[in-house]
Amino acid sequence: MTSHAFALPLIRRPMRRVLLFVAMHSEAEPIARALSLRGSPSLRHGTVGDAEIQLLTPTLDAVTGVDSIGPVHAAAALASMLGFLTHASGVGRPDLVVNLGTAGGFQAQGLGIADLVLARDTMFHDARVPLPGYEAVARAHTRLSLDEAQLASLATRLNARVGLASTGSSLDATTDELAQFAAHQTLAKDMELAALAVVCRAHDLPLIALKGITDLVDHHEPTHEAFLRNLKHTSDRLAAVAAPFLEFVTH
Ligand code: ADE
Repeated sequence: MTSHAFALPLIRRPMRRVLLFVAMHSEAEPIARALSLRGSPSLRHGTVGDAEIQLLTPTLDAVTGVDSIGPVHAAAALASMLGFLTHASGVGRPDLVVNLGTAGGFQAQGLGIADLVLARDTMFHDARVPLPGYEAVARAHTRLSLDEAQLASLATRLNARVGLASTGSSLDATTDELAQFAAHQTLAKDMELAALAVVCRAHDLPLIALKGITDLVDHHEPTHEAFLRNLKHTSDRLAAVAAPFLEFVTH
């Protein structure tokens, strides 16, 4: 595995204000129901135990009406929401950013549909910049904020695997990327986590992530078919563990 270029702050105190980022409305709805959150589809709020939760889902694209998915939209939405919460809302800066969402998984790593992956680290797998220093910035390989003991404890509690969740702009994968996923023992492939990590690093904020698997990247079935078939089932599984996950990290 390549070493991390960057690391986010660890969780060393109770996290009372949590900004939860969920990229798609169909992923966010069951989570909002499970946590009894209220508000608008793009910003909901509520409490879990002693923690105040804000659930951010980027607004639907104004032209096509679909979710604004991908790393650019994720970074833009998180950065502007952090500015709003910190300076304009009266809510205040969050203590912690949490990403819940679906991802592709890897059968070579023993993963199956609706399995859970706790991200230890993230990076952009589709950034290729062979210039000294710039390569590290573009790949943004970042250690997230749960330490090894917290990861192990949560993995047992949630029956989740722990490892690398890698981010790119595409739902499918190229042959080169497949080789890279195998070399890095990647467990999950998504379209937002590394972008959220870049924003959190700029704001010195801790970030953690839990992914549910909708499709197997190294399987012959076209990714988009498996993704659409399994989206509801996997989103429901994530929603079912959202409260215990948040309770563990906010205590
Ligand atoms: N989200 C769900 N499945 C995915 C995949 N295969 N790649 C990227 N993001 C995903």
